[in-house]
Amino acid sequence: MKAFFIKKPRLLTYGEVAKPEVKKGEVLLRVRACALNHLDLHLLKGRFKVPLPHILGSDVSGVIERIDGRTNLKVGQAVVVNPAIPCGQCPRCKKNLSCEIVNIFGYKTNGGYAEYITVPIAQVYPKPNNLSFVEAAAFPLTFLTAYHMLVGRANLQKNETVFIWGASGGLGSVAIQVAKDIGAKIITAISEDDDAKKIKKLGAIKIINYKKENVEQSVKKLTNGEKVDVVFESVGAKTWKISLAILRPHGRIVIAGVTSGAIASQDLSDIYYYQQTILGSRMGTKQEFEQVLRLVAEEKLKPVIDKIFPLKKADKALKRLAESKQFGKIVLEC
Ligand SMILES: NC(=O)c1ccc[n+]([C@@H]2O[C@H](COP(=O)([O-])OP(=O)(O)OC[C@H]3O[C@@H](n4cnc5c(N)ncnc54)[C@H](OP(=O)(O)O)[C@@H]3O)[C@@H](O)[C@H]2O)c1
Ligand SMILES: [Zn+2]
Repeated sequence: MKAFFIKKPRLLTYGEVAKPEVKKGEVLLRVRACALNHLDLHLLKGRFKVPLPHILGSDVSGVIERIDGRTNLKVGQAVVVNPAIPCGQCPRCKKNLSCEIVNIFGYKTNGGYAEYITVPIAQVYPKPNNLSFVEAAAFPLTFLTAYHMLVGRANLQKNETVFIWGASGGLGSVAIQVAKDIGAKIITAISEDDDAKKIKKLGAIKIINYKKENVEQSVKKLTNGEKVDVVFESVGAKTWKISLAILRPHGRIVIAGVTSGAIASQDLSDIYYYQQTILGSRMGTKQEFEQVLRLVAEEKLKPVIDKIFPLKKADKALKRLAESKQFGKIVLEC
């Protein structure tokens, strides 16, 4: 079969590889679409060590070609993959709680930049009929993460105010929709004025251009000096100081990424004085994935597609992600 794979760090190769063998408890999928994530770039750069050659790709939709195990799924059925795989062995998994570690499909396993993949049966769900294969590949990882951040971790409530960094990005564009569904008041940040119209369609109410405005002052003005209850963070080093400055007493910051760098400093006294909470967040639970799938099928959450590339142009697609040129998800058709 054809696949795009990392041959050695920083070297992505398109070529022929062996079609995977389906094992007990797995399905074989003919991949139809696979969306890109920053994880793919981290793996390509060799930031996380995995055995090479490695096929990238965590967000997959496709058609079942073979099944080895018990399931209600059928050969020929259109499906989508839940990329968050519980380890099954940590103390929390043993107590039937959400996994401590969560393996990501396409990280330590081969992923979807390929014509075929094998996936554990428990990770496979029928594709909602209202979504194309491209749309179905565009939602799992970022929707699950954004939902877990705002609902599972920050417990965002109706009428609370949330500030969302990275409105044009994979996580931010979903966070806006999740926050809207909850009934929260939303303030978000962009760098290009052209993005404002697209973001208004997603439900953002107040938009700040962080390159032109002083975000701290603008947030204070927009909230009559009250600041925000929740900050949605995935930018990291470059925004952390502002995130703390715009957070109200008893507020929560939820962080799932460090796109601009991982090292930031902060005044610890503010954290205890104002009784603020910093929440780490990674992927999400099986129940949250199933809830996100329902919300997508009901069209309460909608995948945002930036651009579609054929599988053999995966290198060009990754370049677009690395240059932060996208609005929403970049997707490969396989
Ligand atoms: N923990 C998890 O489970 C998990 C899951 C998914 C992703 N992540 C991580 O979360 C991060 C974001 O993922 P994504 O898919 O949303 O990425 P993305 O689509 O590339 O979006 C990144 C966003 O960050 C904004 N941004 C970049 N630099 C900025 C700065 N200096 N100030 C303000 N905004 C800035 C960009 O906005 P502009 O273009 O307007 O600057 C863009 O909207 C990545 O680091 C990823 O690895 C973690
Ligand atoms: Zn576990």
